[in-house]
Amino acid sequence: MTVRGRGPRHGNALSRIGVIRDGAILVRDGVIAAVGSSAKVEKLKESKEAEKFDVGGRVVLPGFVDAHTHLIHAASRAEEYDLKIRGASYEEIARQGGGILNSVKKLRAATAEELKKRARGFLERFAEHGTTTIEAKSGYGLDATSELRILSLHKELDAEQPLEIVSTFLGAHVVPTEYRGKAGGTRQYLELLCKQLIPEVADNGLAEFCDVFCERGAFSISESRSVLESGRARGLAPRVHAEQLSNTGATRMGIELGAASCDHLEYLKPGDIRRLAKSKTVATLLPGCDFHLGLQRYAPARELIDAGAIVALATDFNPGTSPTLSMAMILSLACSRLRMTPAEAIAAATINAAYSLRRERRVGSIEHGKQADLAVFELADYREIPYYFGVNTCWMTMKRGEIVHLRD
Ligand code: NIG
Ligand code: FE
Repeated sequence: MTVRGRGPRHGNALSRIGVIRDGAILVRDGVIAAVGSSAKVEKLKESKEAEKFDVGGRVVLPGFVDAHTHLIHAASRAEEYDLKIRGASYEEIARQGGGILNSVKKLRAATAEELKKRARGFLERFAEHGTTTIEAKSGYGLDATSELRILSLHKELDAEQPLEIVSTFLGAHVVPTEYRGKAGGTRQYLELLCKQLIPEVADNGLAEFCDVFCERGAFSISESRSVLESGRARGLAPRVHAEQLSNTGATRMGIELGAASCDHLEYLKPGDIRRLAKSKTVATLLPGCDFHLGLQRYAPARELIDAGAIVALATDFNPGTSPTLSMAMILSLACSRLRMTPAEAIAAATINAAYSLRRERRVGSIEHGKQADLAVFELADYREIPYYFGVNTCWMTMKRGEIVHLRD
């Protein structure tokens, strides 16, 4: 499965994933030098001198691009999972100081070394599941020191281990405890974000994107807009957590600001679908959240695809709503719950996700000139990737031509 063809996929094109049977890939210096049928690639002069690696008829995909994760966090929230199963809602738990604020408390108490060690473990698991590029958001620090610490860790981890990390500043996740309940607290926190943190993040090259959680209990449309505009003015492209638990109008605002992506979208309105279809803003769907929280309402994937929007899929790996780093599991949910076909789900988790991270020229498909980022599955048919749900069938993962996971 090459998912070849430049640019993001809209509508029917989402299911064209460029299958080559009995194919071969020539890799030079971590970059794809040729791809095609084995007969053709093996005939090339350079192939004759190349070291051969036989994947034994297994299914080869571009490495997954996970365009929405909250990689750095200090601990799970398994205790809240238990409460949720007994009937407490995600928002009730958050109102009682649990939820995101619970993770903030835990992160502030952790050392940078502890956070890094934990994240490294997760990155190894991502590689084992066939993911080669991940976006990572801050947002469990919510004070200057802790947010900058998270973003610096993104940078260090990107340099020190094979997977590529795309850093996003999510200082506007929620208003932290110390600003709550005091007059003008939210305004003061927004000032800290817009006047101090965003300039510092941008000046030090600590993030490429700026995100906000636009939702009741988090930030309003006008608050979100001010944060995203401040970020954009400093070169941080907007992304938005939009319409996850209610329809706030965040998608419309995101499109107006030229957001790279609007994510979640469970409560999207028909007008939002039309606007997304006309825009370059990616609709990133995160069905892991609905599954984990036991919610019945999933994003309108079919309507988005049929209208021509650019649909991507991501894990939203985080301790509160989606504790999974398995993209294959997300593909299973996309197929069974969002009614996407396996081919559509694969393109959504590779080339369209890469486009949302502005990396579609380098990753997201198996094409001449792109990075040799591959995921190989111990299967006979690509449709078996989502078909075997909750089973990791990834056999080998390659990042920039280096094997970073190989099942023995
Ligand atoms: O993408 N919705 C906001 N942020 C995360 C959840 C964060 C948390 O609960 O810790 C999300 O679902
Ligand atoms: Fe998120």
